Amino acid sequence: MDLDYVKNAVDSVVREVSKAVIGYDLEVRLLFGCLLVGGHVLVEGFPGLAKTSLAKAFARTLGLSFSRVQFTPDLLPSDITGSLIFNPRVGDFEVRLGPIFANIVLADEINRAPPKVQSALLEAMQEGQVTIAGKPHELPKPFMVIATQNPIELEGTYPLPEAQLDRFTVRIRLSYPSEDVEFRIASDIELGNVNLVNTVLSRDDIVKMQSLVKSVRVDDSITRYIVRLVRGTRSMRDVKIGASPRAAQTLGKLVRAWALINGRNYVIPDDVKQLAPYVLNHRIITVGTDPNIVIRQLIQQTPTPLMENVIRRT
Ligand SMILES: Nc1ncnc2c1ncn2[C@@H]1O[C@H](COP(=O)(O)OP(=O)(O)OP(=O)(O)O)[C@@H](O)[C@H]1O
Ligand SMILES: [Mg+2]
Repeated sequence: MDLDYVKNAVDSVVREVSKAVIGYDLEVRLLFGCLLVGGHVLVEGFPGLAKTSLAKAFARTLGLSFSRVQFTPDLLPSDITGSLIFNPRVGDFEVRLGPIFANIVLADEINRAPPKVQSALLEAMQEGQVTIAGKPHELPKPFMVIATQNPIELEGTYPLPEAQLDRFTVRIRLSYPSEDVEFRIASDIELGNVNLVNTVLSRDDIVKMQSLVKSVRVDDSITRYIVRLVRGTRSMRDVKIGASPRAAQTLGKLVRAWALINGRNYVIPDDVKQLAPYVLNHRIITVGTDPNIVIRQLIQQTPTPLMENVIRRT
């Protein structure tokens, strides 16, 4: 395997996205990692932080089908999944597949639609299929949902149920840019124009990279470390409900993709440290403390596997 294959691919995606949206290189790499493991991403942030632009620009770099659904209070589940419609020419009903039948689906402002609509989307994400008028329809592959939402305290929103947050591989919280980045946003009038972003990867490239993830080596000490972190969330102070085994499974997969993205075919402890906050932050329910603070403490107090051992054995 050419180790630079995935690394170069990600670098080109990062380069293209930055023609339209700047300051989110790490976030683009995370999106890419999730794509490689067949995962879904929740992007959270205040209005005007370029959530929508980031998702659109990322999707444009990929030679995949793309659709965007703007979630609104009056949306119906069938507006996403599809429905039976009467075709007067044929004199019969036929299935019209909804916008969820695309490789990359941008579910924009997901918390502005009522729970019924949200759960139609989340069910499809979990099952990889949609039932329309009693008949199952397979979703395309690759399939990835990028959902955006404003922080849930904002008025007129329906917070996603905790149980459903677990379906997202990672939650990425965007924060305000640095002064330098904001200076460029203010001065470069072309920024924000996603039409400047070129497609740099084909569907075949992406499918091939997805299959490489399985060949990445993970030492048992790394897996043990992942399990300790996930289990650790359940006994931290201020945590009401900790992370599930699904979190352990997700982190176990995502670190493999992360190794490839960084030009390695084996996972190192730092991969776990870097990714754990993104994988865990939406899967633990705390009382009064920011989950990210709890996770930082957890990482600090959990013994890290020895790098020498990891490298010697992998
Ligand atoms: N980091 C950035 N790089 C480039 N443009 C940016 C950046 N941050 C904000 N902008 C600009 O701000 C505008 C808002 O972006 P966008 O609509 O994607 O934000 P949003 O987070 O989806 O907002 P909302 O929550 O209101 O939907 C765009 O014109 C975009 O170009
Ligand atoms: Mg938006």
